[in-house]
Amino acid sequence: MTGRFSDQTVLVVGGTQRLGAAIAEAVASEGSRVTVSSHAPQTDTVLRIDLRDEESVAHAATLLGPVDHVVSTASMTYSASIGDLELSRLQDAIAAKVTGPLLLAKHMRIRRSLTLFSGQAAWRPGSGTYATGITNGAVAFAAQHLAAELAPVRVNAISPGIVDSGLWDGRGAQKADFLATAASRTLVGTTGTIQDVVDAVLWILSAGFLTGETVHLDGGRR
Ligand SMILES: NC(=O)c1ccc[n+]([C@@H]2O[C@H](COP(=O)([O-])OP(=O)(O)OC[C@H]3O[C@@H](n4cnc5c(N)ncnc54)[C@H](OP(=O)(O)O)[C@@H]3O)[C@@H](O)[C@H]2O)c1
Repeated sequence: MTGRFSDQTVLVVGGTQRLGAAIAEAVASEGSRVTVSSHAPQTDTVLRIDLRDEESVAHAATLLGPVDHVVSTASMTYSASIGDLELSRLQDAIAAKVTGPLLLAKHMRIRRSLTLFSGQAAWRPGSGTYATGITNGAVAFAAQHLAAELAPVRVNAISPGIVDSGLWDGRGAQKADFLATAASRTLVGTTGTIQDVVDAVLWILSAGFLTGETVHLDGGRR
């Protein structure tokens, strides 16, 4: 198939749902051969990668072989007041966003780029959101340091603002109010769309002079 990524291979970690699934579909439609992973048990079509488990990353790397681009959407978001902090849940959050991507860098044979997901919470401190903020902030530094470590493989991060990806559906009847408030706090007056994120990721994957950067896609909220 012809397209921006024809004959290139892409691994999307967390690619079975929400933003990851949309990214996987988009890169496939641009001609790439896509593998998606989940931390759920392996199936015929989905690789198992649990970023808390180095063995799962190493095993997946062996099964996959060399890969042109890796995109990690992984997150195990955790919010709690500091008095209620549960260390194991904080460690899961750090593993999904920070130490797990280091394991991807260690084990995957990446030929062109690694793209990580940060998030606006890093730059908007608030009560109870320190775990999300600190892990997302660390992603931006991970992109800088891994860019030097893996060079000439490019490493970047994307930091979305609030996007109606399905992530917020658990809020039920409060979801509409939550999204309206989030939109009102941006400079552009909207929340982000799945397509906004897909477009930015396609650009990051193809932008050969971009490395070590965090692309802020948050409507100016930061
Ligand atoms: N949507 C937003 O408003 C928003 C805002 C700011 C930042 N972000 C960031 O954008 C990224 C994608 O978000 P999203 O909206 O698509 O929803 P999400 O639920 O946050 O996506 C997280 C992904 O991580 C995967 N995952 C969970 N635990 C994992 C583990 N231990 N190892 C490997 N993968 C794991 C999940 O897939 P499996 O369960 O199949 O493994 C899921 O696809 C996340 O990093 C999120 O923090 C989103």
